[in-house]
Amino acid sequence: MYNAKAYSAASATSPLTSSKIERRHPTQHDVQIEILFCGICHSDLHQVRNEWRDVMPTVYPCVPGHEIVGRVTKAGSAVTKLKPGDLVAVGCLVDSDRTCPECRAGLEQFCPNLVLTYNGPDKHLGGVTYGGYSDSIVVDERFVLRVPANLDLARAAPLLCAGITTYSPMRHWGVTKGKKVGVVGLGGLGHMGVKFGHALGAHVVVFTTSPGKKDDALRLGADDVVVSRNADEMQKHTGSFDFILDTVSAHHDINAYINLLRRDGNITLVGAPEKALGVSSFALLMRRRSVSGSLIGGIAETQEMLDFCGAHNITSDVEVIPIQKVNEAYERLLKSDVKYRFSVDMASLKSE
Ligand SMILES: NC(=O)c1ccc[n+]([C@@H]2O[C@H](COP(=O)([O-])OP(=O)(O)OC[C@H]3O[C@@H](n4cnc5c(N)ncnc54)[C@H](OP(=O)(O)O)[C@@H]3O)[C@@H](O)[C@H]2O)c1
Ligand SMILES: [Zn+2]
Ligand SMILES: [Zn+2]
Repeated sequence: MYNAKAYSAASATSPLTSSKIERRHPTQHDVQIEILFCGICHSDLHQVRNEWRDVMPTVYPCVPGHEIVGRVTKAGSAVTKLKPGDLVAVGCLVDSDRTCPECRAGLEQFCPNLVLTYNGPDKHLGGVTYGGYSDSIVVDERFVLRVPANLDLARAAPLLCAGITTYSPMRHWGVTKGKKVGVVGLGGLGHMGVKFGHALGAHVVVFTTSPGKKDDALRLGADDVVVSRNADEMQKHTGSFDFILDTVSAHHDINAYINLLRRDGNITLVGAPEKALGVSSFALLMRRRSVSGSLIGGIAETQEMLDFCGAHNITSDVEVIPIQKVNEAYERLLKSDVKYRFSVDMASLKSE
């Protein structure tokens, strides 16, 4: 084991502070990665504050971060795909059993023995895994992605969660030219959803509670913007959407969006608010509409998404911050005051 620098939370009510954590030395299939940038996902905040206690209680200390880009510094003896110096990325998964039907289908995110990048069971050291708010991480090469060379690293980091979480359901539900697609919430996930919907050729409509984000939504690739608190504006779109991606992190009325779907339309929830959302049976059954969920994406699809971003020059709009500003960033995230993802420059950890 070796000591790595990190930022961790000691409890659900503690701020994140500088700390030392133990990492394993790379085993034969592992690479050690110097972390260069790590995005701040709203899931980091939910987990640090134990808001998902009923589903996945947080074990403290918690080192969040699953939007990681960095450089390989060491490679185990059996590593074949990667070598020191390679620019790489790690998302929300660092391991799975590799044998179950989900793993064999390339859907490791649904593996019953999935190991999440943080707050997952650490098979090597015991306890839980520690994420990307750190200067380094050690990961099995099978869970390490390649970053296309043309992408800016600070802007590429959020692709590892916000990117794949929006790309995967859009591909699954056939978002393409000729489809009318809604994106609810213009945050980290939402703004990536807009970019992908646009790149896939769909007619994209953004639903936002923040009137001040209207111009940005259009600049990011939306064809239309609706301020969701305005009932008249919402009404105009009744029964017209093929697909809606709901990225909202807080409690809200999803029936207002179900009513905007056409026959056989689907709304997919990727947002994970603390409390359950109520679904109206009538809103669903009137037009055979459906509600689904989606969880990040498998390793192969994450690489496909990164390559798609390389080919279309898609990255996240980021505000780069030093790790010392992370607590302030969480408060701003709660106020929807970030355009549109914080990306932490991990060089800032060197001074700790
Ligand atoms: N399923 C998955 O695999 C997965 C992966 C990553 C994240 N998530 C979850 O997805 C959610 C979004 O994550 P994120 O990082 O994109 O968060 P974020 O950057 O904070 O964006 C969430 C957006 O939701 C809207 N919003 C916030 N509070 C609202 C409210 N009370 N009513 C209506 N709209 C509200 C805001 O958009 P406007 O200002 O435009 O209204 C806000 O920008 C979180 O719950 C996160 O845990 C799920
Ligand atoms: Zn995330
Ligand atoms: Zn499995």
